[in-house]
Amino acid sequence: MIVKVNTGTVSGLVGYRVIVEADFSNGLPSFDLVGLPDATVRESKERVRAAIKNSGFEFPAKKAIVNLAPADLKKEGTQFDLPIAVAVLLSTGQLKANTDEYVFVGELGLSGEIRAVNGVLSLVSGAKENGFKKVIVPIENAREASLAQGIDVYGAECLADVYSHLMGEKELEIFKCDLEKIFKEASSYDMDFSEVRGQTALRRGVEIGVSGGHNILMIGTPGSGKSMIAQRIPTILPDMTIDEAIEVTKIYSVAGALDSGMRLVARRPFRSPHHSASAVSVVGGGAKAKPGEISLAHNGVLFLDEFPEYKKDLIEAMRQPLEDKKITVTRAAASYTYPCNAMLVVALNPCKCGFYGDPSGKCRCSETDVRKYLGKISGPILDRIDIQLEAASVKYSDLKAPKGESSEVVKERINAARKIQLMRYRNEKITCNAQLTGSLIEKYCQIGIEESEMLKSAFDSIGFTARAYTRILKVARTIADTEGREKINTMDIAEAIGYRNLDRKYFT
Ligand SMILES: Nc1ncnc2c1ncn2[C@@H]1O[C@H](COP(=O)(O)OP(=O)(O)O)[C@@H](O)[C@H]1O
Ligand SMILES: [Mg+2]
Ligand SMILES: [Zn+2]
Repeated sequence: MIVKVNTGTVSGLVGYRVIVEADFSNGLPSFDLVGLPDATVRESKERVRAAIKNSGFEFPAKKAIVNLAPADLKKEGTQFDLPIAVAVLLSTGQLKANTDEYVFVGELGLSGEIRAVNGVLSLVSGAKENGFKKVIVPIENAREASLAQGIDVYGAECLADVYSHLMGEKELEIFKCDLEKIFKEASSYDMDFSEVRGQTALRRGVEIGVSGGHNILMIGTPGSGKSMIAQRIPTILPDMTIDEAIEVTKIYSVAGALDSGMRLVARRPFRSPHHSASAVSVVGGGAKAKPGEISLAHNGVLFLDEFPEYKKDLIEAMRQPLEDKKITVTRAAASYTYPCNAMLVVALNPCKCGFYGDPSGKCRCSETDVRKYLGKISGPILDRIDIQLEAASVKYSDLKAPKGESSEVVKERINAARKIQLMRYRNEKITCNAQLTGSLIEKYCQIGIEESEMLKSAFDSIGFTARAYTRILKVARTIADTEGREKINTMDIAEAIGYRNLDRKYFT
């Protein structure tokens, strides 16, 4: 009897429907599995055969054909074992049930246990979009799958349990998720902004940056707290929307980067790839065309500490994806696209020894050395940075200063500023000021005569490049938003001009 069982495959982050067709007929005993890449077929066949036998069922000595359709869809992963096994049981009459409304996903172990697979959230979201109401997944993936919402998720431990469920003998457990609870649990950290003493200007600049989603650069002597501040940025990032969280979770799931037991990536990611990391691990790709660090930072922060230490080819590899906010990785005949819309935070010392410009006069680097050292940041990367901050050395009196404001207080202000932006741009397909471009800047960053005169004289006296102009307007927009003002005033412009430290001091 020919039977059909539903499953899926993931391409990029999207789950597509796959149908397993099975037919057992009289003839020379054989087991043909078609529609999968060669190596996968061999392994899957052995697992399915052993799992069926070891679960107390029979794999009849008949002419068996199993086909995965559609043929032209590239199928990846080990999640086909379970649906193939179910198709075999149906086709051989051992399982008598209607499975039309189910989607099955899972790898089988030789003794019939069901093992976790990658990309489950994408698979289940795809199943839901295709109108399915029920999905059976490995129990370890069930929490993750339940994030898809609006589809019944059953978690199964072994093939025999799936059989009992379908036969109506013993129902599998349905997994539901309490999103509110997950978000709440995710919002506690063991670091806090209050630990940063002094550095008021730096703290303010970082707050403005996060409020508008602007890329931030911090330059200053070693020990001035650049890394310390960057590491605390996660504690003040605005809350993620459910859609954002689900998108990020899909990326982690496909990358196999979800910790076991983790369901939802409910806090904005903070990724800091080391400067010695390979280009593939940072931008993505490799044998399995997995997402890299820049995609794992999607909707969050990509922190590049000690920036001049990064190799030229790595910076070059990151440049275009960060510009496009997405990266396409190619493997064999297939290519996958992953989003990488992250806020970039860059930290660096002003020169090799770290003390260029420091009042201590310790620096012995030549002007040429300093230019060469900073050369790596100029051009393409600096072009993308809205907020350039100088980190002054920490004074003893700063460390004795009272604790700074807590992350909770800062985050509350940031959330309020982001809400204004979300509302304002609800019909523009953007979410924050940093994403404003061309005509949108004209529409939303209008300034009066006084403000334009101020900008003009800054350009004339400081010699800003044209790229600085729109960046200043966008940052001024954010500063006004942090005060809930629609109109941009001269104070906002002046502060925004102040965030062009590098342009002014090092590159003019
Ligand atoms: N403003 C500050 N308030 C409190 N501690 C600080 C501050 N700046 C630096 N520190 C201390 O000095 C250490 C080194 O700072 P770090 O952030 O690594 O400096 P940088 O990255 O600028 O070289 C921090 O871990 C922290 O203990
Ligand atoms: Mg550091
Ligand atoms: Zn130096």
